[in-house]
Amino acid sequence: MQNDIKEILLTEEEIKKRVVELGQQIAMDYRGKDLVAICVLKGAALFFGDLLRALDIALNVDFMAISSYGVSTKTSGVHRIIMDLEKSIEGKDVLLVEDIVDTGRTLAYLRNYLAQRNPASLKVCVLLDKPSRREVEVPVEYKGFDIPDKFVVGYGLDYAETYRNLPYICVLKPEVYSKGE
Ligand code: IMP
Ligand code: MG
Repeated sequence: MQNDIKEILLTEEEIKKRVVELGQQIAMDYRGKDLVAICVLKGAALFFGDLLRALDIALNVDFMAISSYGVSTKTSGVHRIIMDLEKSIEGKDVLLVEDIVDTGRTLAYLRNYLAQRNPASLKVCVLLDKPSRREVEVPVEYKGFDIPDKFVVGYGLDYAETYRNLPYICVLKPEVYSKGE
């Protein structure tokens, strides 16, 4: 797995520091509110776990899973809920936690989907943003890092379902990506 890595964009330490900052900011904004933090599986799983540990306020968690990419690095543009929330979010202060916003299509779909369920408020927290790739404008209230237009893996993000367990964010060698296309 290590042999497939071309460059590390964000180290474990950089991620850790930023996640703690985000947690402090979110805790300040949601203290006394009825927060439900929603993790979008599978990509946001590691980020979600670390973010929760940085939030010293009462909250509930829930999970959902949505189909995005197949094996390729290009978005399909088609979304399907694979696993829905367990509990109603009506009247709750919802914070949706995603790994990355790229074209913005996934987040726009999810925002719309959750808004229809009448939460008291709805905000989004993403670890990574590729602003140069945006096709759909979508609000992002909390953001870890802007990154360049490169396909990244690690810290929850995958290529063909692999590399999610790397503790940093990195770019793979071009020959690794070309195998799946
Ligand atoms: P969007 O709909 O184009 O904004 O894509 C968002 C989704 O695509 C994310 O939730 C990721 O699952 C996936 N994605 C986008 N860019 C990357 C990347 O660089 N590495 C891994 N997954 C990515
Ligand atoms: Mg994702």
